[in-house]
Amino acid sequence: MGGTVVANVIRSRVDTGDQVFAGNREAMLAALAEVDQLQAQVVAGGGSPDAEKNARSVARHRKRGKLLPRERIEYLIDDVSPFLELSALAGWGTDDPLGGGIVTGIGFVQGTECMIIANDATVKGGSQGPTSVKKGLRAMDIARRNRLPLVSLTESGGADLPKQSEIFVPGGASFKNLTQLSAAGIPTVTLVFGSSTAGGAYVPGMSDYVVLQKEAARVYLGGPPLVKMAIDEDANEEDLGGAEMHARVSGLADYLAEDEPDALRIGRDIVAHLRWRKQGSGPDRPPTAPAYDPDELLGIASADIRVPFEAREVLARVLDGSEFEEFKPLYGTTLVTGWGHIGGYPVGVLANNGILFSEESKKGAQFIQLCNRHDIPIIFFQNITGFMVGTKYEQGGIIKDGAKLINAVSNSSVPHLTVMMGASYGAGNYGMSGRAYDPRFVFTWPNHRIAVMGPKQLAGVLTIVARQKTEAAGAEFDEAAFAPMRDAFENQVESESTALFATGRLWDDGIIDPRDTRTALTLALSAVHSGPVTGTSDFGVWRM
Ligand code: COA
Repeated sequence: MGGTVVANVIRSRVDTGDQVFAGNREAMLAALAEVDQLQAQVVAGGGSPDAEKNARSVARHRKRGKLLPRERIEYLIDDVSPFLELSALAGWGTDDPLGGGIVTGIGFVQGTECMIIANDATVKGGSQGPTSVKKGLRAMDIARRNRLPLVSLTESGGADLPKQSEIFVPGGASFKNLTQLSAAGIPTVTLVFGSSTAGGAYVPGMSDYVVLQKEAARVYLGGPPLVKMAIDEDANEEDLGGAEMHARVSGLADYLAEDEPDALRIGRDIVAHLRWRKQGSGPDRPPTAPAYDPDELLGIASADIRVPFEAREVLARVLDGSEFEEFKPLYGTTLVTGWGHIGGYPVGVLANNGILFSEESKKGAQFIQLCNRHDIPIIFFQNITGFMVGTKYEQGGIIKDGAKLINAVSNSSVPHLTVMMGASYGAGNYGMSGRAYDPRFVFTWPNHRIAVMGPKQLAGVLTIVARQKTEAAGAEFDEAAFAPMRDAFENQVESESTALFATGRLWDDGIIDPRDTRTALTLALSAVHSGPVTGTSDFGVWRM
């Protein structure tokens, strides 16, 4: 006789009327307003801090009858398709243009999920600086690991020449990646709308399919000035690299497009004939909304990340139907593990509810093995200040137990998706599948903070080291004299730990509004199922 199956619906205990909730909500909305304002700046184009100059670049682009990159993407993707834009604020806090002058993201073209990379020619002529290179390489990496066809919408002046030394060597990987995608059977399609010079010429050169726009695309290894310098030839642009020439003479172009909409239509036709089939399964049940309002996530996530919050309250607003089959709830209680669904896809969840001790590490390692046994993708919800330190815990084997978790995370072969919902400090970042552990996607909330440890602790450690050094030399340590240095260091670490600092350096795939977490994860889960979802039992030696 079967028993009655009762769904494990999480019961929320959040008090939406309390002060802490209101304070968190206010702080999160303020942080989101800053993110929105920065995103609006990127969308407007131009890429410089000077708004008037940006407006002039965009007006000139439009006067030439050209579309902006996001408009090209709109034309390319299906009417009903979402677009999961990645790393929109890459370059923040660097001297690169915000967004890096390229747009990357995932959208559906003729029903097929594709990775799309689009240059923004209003930003330094679409030339590629360090941020553009990192962002483009990351997009290709996502395409390769998730088996997503790649569509490039190209209009680029090649290397950002004043920054050539920073991009020349790493940038070369983009051509290698294109051909390796092709070798892996992942189609690459390039539509060229303008300049595609020097290194940029290899983007169409290395792609499976090439569409050039008539009287607009210019594809050459060296433009007329360079040809003049190199071989003293007076070449004209059309003969050197025009679309008609490449379609009729060199054979680089496979299709000649009349105008931008025509190029985008041809791109859609190409993707349609790929007849691309996913190798992963579809959702195994219809998606159901959580029982609690995701809006409440704004008040749940702590504005001050030193204040812990209940991870199950987040899961109750992200998982389908707020249903969660919790695994080992009574053991290793500061790590919440269990199974649920997001957007109808089955997922295993690891979520921090405090510091990681030995029990949590072993529980996490065991749970990751189970997800691998059953080919279930894993979502890591990070809010972690690190592994526990202290004599008792060292004697209890925290290093070798932490190593078990890191072994499991490193060798697990099911897709990992990581959501940074608060702190990400120390080796906790690694044990919970931080960026260096190759999660397929990493999304962060604006309250996220990331560093080796908290700024106060780091400054405190520095002070102790300085004191020991002074005292070892037989002198007296002047605490007051050292204080300004300690404060400056604390402020520096504070400013290098923010979500904006992290996203600026592509330590993640973008800052998301907590309310959009389920949507972002659903789109990411759909993308990862474009490839096979297969677990492993091949882990390193378990240190016992
Ligand atoms: N590196 C850095 N900045 C570049 C650049 C490059 N490769 N190409 C263009 N820019 C900048 C320009 O300096 C200009 O900046 P400004 O607005 O601050 O003055 C801005 O991008 C727009 O360039 P502009 O030439 O005015 O625009 P355009 O639309 O008429 O032409 C190009 C765009 C890309 C066709 C043209 O700038 C060009 O040929 N660039 C050089 C390409 C090249 O030889 N690259 C070699 C790479 S190895």
